[in-house]
Amino acid sequence: MSYNLLKGKKGIIFGALDEKSIAWKVAMRAKEEGAEFVLTNAPLAMRMGEINKLAEACNTQVIPADATSVEDLENLFTKAQEILGGKIDFVLHSIGMSPNIRKGKSYGDLNYEWFLKTLDISALSFHKVMHVAEKQNAMNEWGSIVALSYIAAQRVFPDYTDMSQAKAVLESIARNYGYRLGKLNKVRVNTVSQSPTKTTAGTGVGGFDAFYDYADKMSPLGNASAESCADYCITLFSDLTRMVSMQNLMHDGGFSTMGISEDVVEMISKQS
Ligand SMILES: NC(=O)c1ccc[n+]([C@@H]2O[C@H](COP(=O)([O-])OP(=O)(O)OC[C@H]3O[C@@H](n4cnc5c(N)ncnc54)[C@H](O)[C@@H]3O)[C@@H](O)[C@H]2O)c1
Repeated sequence: MSYNLLKGKKGIIFGALDEKSIAWKVAMRAKEEGAEFVLTNAPLAMRMGEINKLAEACNTQVIPADATSVEDLENLFTKAQEILGGKIDFVLHSIGMSPNIRKGKSYGDLNYEWFLKTLDISALSFHKVMHVAEKQNAMNEWGSIVALSYIAAQRVFPDYTDMSQAKAVLESIARNYGYRLGKLNKVRVNTVSQSPTKTTAGTGVGGFDAFYDYADKMSPLGNASAESCADYCITLFSDLTRMVSMQNLMHDGGFSTMGISEDVVEMISKQS
């Protein structure tokens, strides 16, 4: 159902890899709500070709950019404004990757070169995106910038290894750049802390199925789906949330406030 929440708004959406991606769902919802936007992803991800299908469905274009490269981001923001015919109202940063997780390294055995890559791709890229937006004065007043996070920024999830630090840095960048862009031209910056979700990045984390089920059983509303995450992002891009900034917003069906649930007690009781 469409409410025309983003009618007339222009955006940039990072991170749609395939139709399971959270960014893919956000793009589909943004289109439904009347937004115009460009899509972007790392050149490597473009080779999979899936993103072109999304571009076709949304009647838009894809501009390749490695989000760790300031040069690529400068080109992206310049081209996006040319294509969309004006400044940007919303940006979705939906990017995460840890070479250590990919290679199955445990927390006590991290490769430090890869650790730096994790931080660069999953956290510093968010700073770089806003740095370029600021330098180009690319954001409209009352614009909205959202990045996706995970509760491992605050709590311990052993298999999430160096991504936990990346998410803590990401959330800190949202607060600090949120101050700066808010003062500069009333742009708001937030992170959305999403439930475990069955995507390429999500299922790459060791033990994913177990903590997906655990989170689902702990949350009174169950795990939040990628579709509901997209709905929430749309509200954050809309004019209905103009005064929300510098927040890490939990979108997790209630998980983060729970101690233990009856479902989890029952599950453990059955095993013992
Ligand atoms: N899936 C989950 O369980 C879950 C939970 C909470 C938060 N998140 C976060 O949601 C975001 C989106 O992930 P997803 O679950 O949709 O998985 P996904 O694998 O579909 O998306 C990750 C995206 O990051 C992109 N990317 C990687 N390196 C890049 C680079 N150098 N430059 C530009 N893009 C790059 C990938 O190409 C991919 O499109 C991530 O920040 C992730 O940490 C996911």
